[in-house]
Amino acid sequence: MLDKKVSGKHLEGFFAKLDKSEHYQKFKAYAKKVLALGNDSLEKTIAIAVSLCLVCAVLVSFAAVALKPLQVNNKEEDMKKNILDVAGLLEEGADINAAFAEKIEPKIVDLATGDYVENIDVNEYDQRKAAKDPAQSVAIPKEKDIAHIRVKAKYAKVFLVKEGGAIKSIILPMHGYGLWSTLYGFLSLDPDGQTVQSINFYDQAETPGLGGEVVNPNWRALWKGKKVYAETDQPSAEKGLITEADIGEPALSLIKGAVDNTKPGSQYQVDGLAGATLTSTGVSNLVRYWMSNEGFAPYLKKVRTVKGVKS
Ligand SMILES: Cc1cc2nc3c(=O)[nH]c(=O)nc-3n(C[C@H](O)[C@H](O)[C@H](O)COP(=O)(O)O)c2cc1C
Repeated sequence: MLDKKVSGKHLEGFFAKLDKSEHYQKFKAYAKKVLALGNDSLEKTIAIAVSLCLVCAVLVSFAAVALKPLQVNNKEEDMKKNILDVAGLLEEGADINAAFAEKIEPKIVDLATGDYVENIDVNEYDQRKAAKDPAQSVAIPKEKDIAHIRVKAKYAKVFLVKEGGAIKSIILPMHGYGLWSTLYGFLSLDPDGQTVQSINFYDQAETPGLGGEVVNPNWRALWKGKKVYAETDQPSAEKGLITEADIGEPALSLIKGAVDNTKPGSQYQVDGLAGATLTSTGVSNLVRYWMSNEGFAPYLKKVRTVKGVKS
C-alpha cells in the first residue's frame, strides 16, 4: 500500500516535470498539429509510422531485457533435465533443480591430463562459451578433427552419479557435425568407462524424421549395453560406415542397417538412422572423437572404477 502511494507520487512528480519541459511542450504541439492533418497527408503517415516503430522498439527491448533472467533459468533447467534423463533419473513431475542437486555431481576435467580442475567454479563454467575463447580453447589439428568442430575447450564439464560414495554413472558431453548442424549431446557410461548406459542429443537441427531421429527413444534404447573401446582388434564393419579400430581404441559406431547381435563385434555397433547416412556418420565420428585421446580417454583411464579395460 505504502509502495503504491510512493510510486504514485513519483509518477505524479515525473509527469509534472515532463509537463514543464520545453521539449515536451514542443512535441505536444507538433503531435497536435500532425493529428489535425488529413489522413491522406504524407507527413501524418510518416509521423504515425515512426511513432509506432519507436513504441514497438521500446516494448521489444523491454521484453528482451525483462525476460533474459527467465530465459537463462529455463535453459539451465532444461540442461539439468537432459542430464537427469541420460542418467535414467528423470521422474515425471519431479522438481528438476532439487533432483539435480541431490543426485548429480558436476566436475571440471582437464582433457589433456584427465585430472579434475578444482580452481574453477563448476557452476559458473560454460564449456560452449570456453570453446569460443582462444585463451580457454585449443585448435584441433585437421587430421584429428573427425567431429568437424575445429576447436575444443581445454576443460570439459562432466557429471557423476554416485551411490554411497561409489560412482554409478559417468556422464560425458559430446558434440560434432552431422549433415546440417552441430549435434550436442551426452553419453552416460557405467563405472567401467566402457559400457554405455544411454545417449541423449539435446541440441541439433537435423531433418525431423531423418537425421532428427537421433532423439527417437526407440533408437536411443539401442545404445544401452554397447561397448566403447575395442577389447580386441576390430576390422571394418561388414556394412559399416566406419573403419577398423585397434585394441584399446574407440570402436563404437553406427552401421548401415540393423545390427546382427549374434555377430562378433556387434557389441560396438548401433543401427544407423534410415535414410540419414550422413547424420549417422556424424554421430559415429563425434562419439569416437570424444572417446579418443583427444577427448575423454585420459579421464576415463583415471576415473573408471573397474580396471582392465584398455583405452
Ligand atoms: C530435404 C532433405 C533432408 C535430408 N536430411 C537429412 C538428414 O538430416 N540427415 C541425413 O543424413 N541425410 C539427410 N538427407 C539425405 C541425404 O542427402 C543423403 O541422401 C542421405 O544421408 C543418404 O543416406 P542413405 O544412404 O541412408 O539413403 C536429406 C535429404 C533431403 C532431400
